[in-house]
Amino acid sequence: MGETFPRKTVSCLSFIVTTSHRPTCVQTEAAKQLASEFKVSFAERSDLSVKDITEKFGVDGLLVVSAQRTSFICGGQEFFFHPGLARLRIKELKNGKADQMIKAMSLMPGESVLDCTLGPGADAIVASYVSGPNGRVTGLEASPIISVLVGSGLSTYPEEEDITAAMRRINVINTDYRTYLSSLEPCSYDIIYFDPMFRAPRHKSPAMNSVRLLADPAPVEKETINLALRAAAKRVVLKERRGSAEFERLGFKHVVGGNYAPVAYGVMERQGVLD
Ligand SMILES: C[S@@+](CC[C@H](N)C(=O)[O-])C[C@H]1O[C@@H](n2cnc3c(N)ncnc32)[C@H](O)[C@@H]1O
Repeated sequence: MGETFPRKTVSCLSFIVTTSHRPTCVQTEAAKQLASEFKVSFAERSDLSVKDITEKFGVDGLLVVSAQRTSFICGGQEFFFHPGLARLRIKELKNGKADQMIKAMSLMPGESVLDCTLGPGADAIVASYVSGPNGRVTGLEASPIISVLVGSGLSTYPEEEDITAAMRRINVINTDYRTYLSSLEPCSYDIIYFDPMFRAPRHKSPAMNSVRLLADPAPVEKETINLALRAAAKRVVLKERRGSAEFERLGFKHVVGGNYAPVAYGVMERQGVLD
């Protein structure tokens, strides 16, 4: 906490901030605060529908503060923080089942993880659960809207057995992973992880469709993997679609994952890398 890094702007979508219908004073204040943080307008919702208020202000999207959550709504898609998939994976881990990402990371309690591509945060929550109270998880996110929504979700989502402590421990930073990695000393994190937007998107995933609205879609560069190898004490892990040419392009010779899973993990050990 307390670190400052150049913030990253990705999406060029225009938006305003508003509330749900009949907001409380607290929600209105939170919406005004977000508007000032993003340097965009705040608008009273009154009785306007999402479509009407979007058209009235001539913007692409809305950041809406409601009692349940804060969401970004644009073109029929809605992005908001929810620990759904992480909750399921943690339940499976507790039942003794393997998690392919954790296996690829060979993550142990007490270890540190740098998640370079935080997105909705599911992988970071699972990593934080496994690394435990003596571990450390930092999540980097290029999109200011994703990092604000996920960062505040991680720190305020209602208490739930097993996942609350894991969520609260994650340190979220809105920055570009290249900037952050360049600032690190060798061996700063045990594991450095990348889950970039896939080169060939899986359109079946509605959750990812809403992330795609806001996310940085650029591919990982070989130079970035070299920076990560230098900053990792143990290994660098990349998630991609099974069979993706990205593994070979980026130099991942060891690729693991469930036999029938749609995704796989490239693993590069740090051993032997010269500082
Ligand atoms: C596929 S999502 C990650 C999903 C995440 N692993 C999860 O479990 O929810 C990829 C995220 O990485 C972010 N991203 C892409 N390039 C980045 C960069 N250069 N620096 C920081 N974040 C980046 C995107 O904006 C997007 O939110």
